Amino acid sequence: MARRSRSASGSLLDSPAIKKAAAALLDAVAEEAHSRALSPAAYERAIKQLERLRGRPLGWPMLQAGVGQGASVRLADGTQLLDFIGGIGVYAFGHSDRNLLETAVAAAAVDTVFQGHLVPGVENLELSKLLIKHAGPQLKHAWLSVSGAMANENALKMILQKHQPADRILVFENAFAGRTLAMAELTDKPGFREGLPLRGNVLHVPFYDPTQTDPIRHSLDALEAHLGRFPGRIAAMMFELVQGEGGFNTAPPEYFRALMERCREAGLAVWVDEVQTFARTGELYAFRTLGLEDLVDVVTLGKILQGSAVLFSRRYNPKPGLISGTYAGSTVGMAVGARIIERLDQEGYLGPEGRVVVLARRVERRFESLAKRMPQAIGPRSGIGAMQAFVPWNGNPEVVGAVLRKCFEEGLLVFGAGRSPMKVRMLLPVNTTDEELEQGFAILEKALAAVGEERGLPC
Ligand SMILES: Cc1ncc(COP(=O)(O)O)c(C=O)c1O
Repeated sequence: MARRSRSASGSLLDSPAIKKAAAALLDAVAEEAHSRALSPAAYERAIKQLERLRGRPLGWPMLQAGVGQGASVRLADGTQLLDFIGGIGVYAFGHSDRNLLETAVAAAAVDTVFQGHLVPGVENLELSKLLIKHAGPQLKHAWLSVSGAMANENALKMILQKHQPADRILVFENAFAGRTLAMAELTDKPGFREGLPLRGNVLHVPFYDPTQTDPIRHSLDALEAHLGRFPGRIAAMMFELVQGEGGFNTAPPEYFRALMERCREAGLAVWVDEVQTFARTGELYAFRTLGLEDLVDVVTLGKILQGSAVLFSRRYNPKPGLISGTYAGSTVGMAVGARIIERLDQEGYLGPEGRVVVLARRVERRFESLAKRMPQAIGPRSGIGAMQAFVPWNGNPEVVGAVLRKCFEEGLLVFGAGRSPMKVRMLLPVNTTDEELEQGFAILEKALAAVGEERGLPC
């Protein structure tokens, strides 16, 4: 058989035979899935059973099944919901994107389901090349892993090894870093680490606060105080450039630049957690959207990547033995992650006039028009690109919880973020259509009106 060169992950689909077979399988699955739906009673039983097995209720009582479309998710009882949260930000192009499923099907048929670090496949190479190609001048290496928290663990270890004996890490207030023991400590949420032992080496800096007369000085002063208190003992500062769980808080580039430059000057590593921001802010990386590529040492990715990775400069390449682990990721995840990056790049999603930025403008217009009709219910808005949030009324968590529940009952999945105030957040598919936005905002309006009426809140 003639040898063909294999390059990008999607290239298997360049073979007409593979494309045809993948399409046939997807058609068969779609047809079968549409004809299967659980009865309401069986659906309820299935949810209860899953909740018993998990030992806790589901966040939303629902089971996804079958074939969705774009921002629409299909549940196991056959109902459709509009999904503006995408499993907390993991689906770049929404549900059942045909090209991504074809890529997944082709990748699923090669050799192994998961790939280890010991015998990586070409999918690992292709994905790593793409990640580094877009990462700017400093980041030269990519190490794949399976979750955002694991990428962050790897980042933390390589930073600590390089900076030993410095062992303290600076983070922003309201940061979120993941669910491992170390990440639970970097995460500024006591409820997420109740009962866990702490290293006690995490130091907090207030995030950008536009109500301060000089927000940059405000954060720099806190940073300076820590540097003065622990000379030579601080290894890095971790930056979430748009705080995700913390409330979709943003800050101007000059704010981050001032903090990062000070960190650099003091010999600290600049570590950017892009697990949630990856591919959502207009460029592939938020640090590039904000023009900070000359200042970053270590960057972590997850969610839309369909796996996770830490990217790092030559200086942070750790000694052998520090990072490894059995799995680099699933073959399907790597192939689909690479395909997502290729499409974002080739189909006009990136750049200052790219489709992600245009989506943000369309969302903004929807919010503006909703705020005209409901000026009291639509409080301050925040976010960037395909990460958008607003504060309902004054952001009381109980009221926000009621809004989220009502949206769910009416057929729209959105989620909470932040504490005081609490916000409603959307992690939209980057290809959300106008029609989907119109439907979603109509549901949101209905839900806000209902909650306002139930609670006597003026809209
Ligand atoms: C900023 C940030 N970092 C890290 C994580 C952890 O990622 P994972 O849940 O994949 O471990 C998340 C997850 O929400 C996140 O938003």
